[in-house]
Amino acid sequence: MHNYLSNFPLSRLRRVRSEEWIRQLVNESNLSINDLILPIFINYHKKSTKIDTMPGISRYCLNDAIEVANAAKEIGIKAIAIFPEVPTEKKDANGSEALNDNNIVCKAIRKIKENIKNLGVICDIALDPYTLSGHDGILEDGKVNNDKTVEILVKQAKLNVDAGCDIIAPSDMMDGRVKNIREMLEKNNYHNTLIMSYAAKYASCFYGPFRDAVSASTNLGQDKKKSYQMQFGNSQEALRETALDIKEGADIILIKPGMSYLDIIKSVKETFNFPTFCYQVSGEYSMIKNSILSNIFEEKDIVIETLSCFKRAGADAILTYFAMDAAKILTKQK
Ligand code: PBG
Repeated sequence: MHNYLSNFPLSRLRRVRSEEWIRQLVNESNLSINDLILPIFINYHKKSTKIDTMPGISRYCLNDAIEVANAAKEIGIKAIAIFPEVPTEKKDANGSEALNDNNIVCKAIRKIKENIKNLGVICDIALDPYTLSGHDGILEDGKVNNDKTVEILVKQAKLNVDAGCDIIAPSDMMDGRVKNIREMLEKNNYHNTLIMSYAAKYASCFYGPFRDAVSASTNLGQDKKKSYQMQFGNSQEALRETALDIKEGADIILIKPGMSYLDIIKSVKETFNFPTFCYQVSGEYSMIKNSILSNIFEEKDIVIETLSCFKRAGADAILTYFAMDAAKILTKQK
């Protein structure tokens, strides 16, 4: 490393910050619309509904969801990620609505694929919107059973791909699910279907508003999701999770949550040089959005700053509920 301190006034770091044009020239990372993925909540109703804990975000009815997906595509967003809100009467212990080939996710995929070209569709693979427990898998003796859950997830993935989904995104954190999904895809000639694995997904308070959005039970028991999602003090383990998922056939690695986990994004990207995405999750959105609404932050500044920092850390793309807002801001800047 250089010893800058001894060099003054030969070295003045402020020279490269003195005017906008030079700041642009020395800029090390860029955020563009090509980096954005929009998560969309879809409900089973005829009307969209607002989400109390996520101001400005709705659970869309099917028709509105198609409109939003189309608007995303029109502004240049490359992919959307679909999450269902399932009515309580359709939930059960095994999350069987996940295996209904006419559930709202399968319907939405088919409709989007019929109506919109060149927009990637990502589907979450996990059972939490469908189980009464709110857990990502099925419970046995109070614990999520890994292998039985994986069997169901593989079937869920197959239905979504049959419906036209481009990227399967297992967010459940069961062991071996990427391998089993990849084998199912190969066996069924889906050689080009992508797997984006939530490789390093932490047990986090930041998912709170999401659980409200998909009406998942928050009564998860004392350990919550800690027996399958990672503990926030660990980073070496994130590398082991990533190494395994790559070996099992993942094409893209996802890190989540985002803002408090930038070090994980950086070390995963630097270690594996693999497509690495991150998720600015619901709680991060709500924190920022509420601050914008309270006039603590200026929307365009805080949104662009937080998303640009993901790029600096090494993320190739970002799932964010601000995707449309960011795309509009970036379009205006051109
Ligand atoms: C489902 C899932 C969750 C999120 C994405 N997929 C919630 C959870 O694991 O509890 C969270 C996304 C967000 O908070 O925006 N397994």
